[in-house]
Amino acid sequence: MKSTAKAAAHPNIAFIKYWGNKDHDLRIPANGSLSMNLEGLETQTTVSFDTSLDQDQLILNGEPGGEEALDRVSSLLDRVRELAEIETRAQVLSENNFPTGTGIASSASAFAALTLSAVTALGLCLTEKELSQLARTGSGSASRSIPGGFVEWQAGTDHDSSFAKTIAPPEHWALVDFIVLVSQEHKKTGSSQGHRIADTSPFQEVRVADTERRLDICRKAVLEKDFQTFAGIVELDSNMMHSVMMTSDPPLYYWQSGTLEIMAAVQSWRSEGLPVCFTIDAGPNLHLICPAQASEAVKRKLSALVNVKSVLTCTPGGPARLLEPEITGV
Ligand code: DP6
Repeated sequence: MKSTAKAAAHPNIAFIKYWGNKDHDLRIPANGSLSMNLEGLETQTTVSFDTSLDQDQLILNGEPGGEEALDRVSSLLDRVRELAEIETRAQVLSENNFPTGTGIASSASAFAALTLSAVTALGLCLTEKELSQLARTGSGSASRSIPGGFVEWQAGTDHDSSFAKTIAPPEHWALVDFIVLVSQEHKKTGSSQGHRIADTSPFQEVRVADTERRLDICRKAVLEKDFQTFAGIVELDSNMMHSVMMTSDPPLYYWQSGTLEIMAAVQSWRSEGLPVCFTIDAGPNLHLICPAQASEAVKRKLSALVNVKSVLTCTPGGPARLLEPEITGV
């Protein structure tokens, strides 16, 4: 017997970032975070629980997923199987509509889409909060790709208190996120490993202790659409996370020369009155955020920079959504 569902989810860009965990297995983060879902990029995932399978299978963009990825997927599926009280193995087909190997984090959209499709395939009826909690255990940032629009993940202290929710819908603020690729190299140290060594930096404690303050400023700036305040706090937060990364043991240097060139350019454009700011995740590529009215000007400025390999354009995105329920019983 086979039971299938298909779901889609967007990745997200964090304005106030998640870095470090209080509990690595459950991914209870060291601090709360705030993000925007990215319309234009998405993962579509089909999960088929099939009684004829003797192990889980993973196909990523048409190729068999590696062992590490399969283990991570199986752990999430185990949690779903436990909820449904079944043992049936599943085939997972996952496709990104954005190029892989470009350093664009796909774990958020991947685990959000996987959670929604797996849960639906087994006929479980979970609330958004429960989906967010479950997705979090697969990838922390995936908790923020379950709800739509502008999303805050409250750190919490245990599985039940750590989940994300919408603070404003996608149409609240017409922002544009230009993802500026300066390198297409695969990153050497992934986020999961980075979270594990965050506490080795003497700056992590300071960063975590200051997070409520940054979250308050950022949340208010988003709700009031105050771009100047937003820009300042988003860049500060990104720089604070990278200060922790660079002072961890071993140190993680994600920026490349192209990254620094664009950071400096953005600062100078803003000082000339162009509303735009940068934020950088665990890789060399940048996200340049601006109000929609400034997007043509930002695009023109970007096209003059030699280090820019390519640019993807995103706008605020909706929640994870179901594409195909085909439940025939397990
Ligand atoms: C720098 O969610 O990718 O993008 O929980 O191990 O999957 P895992 O980590 P992940 O970490 C995201 C780190 C970040 C900041 C952020 O998105 O908040």
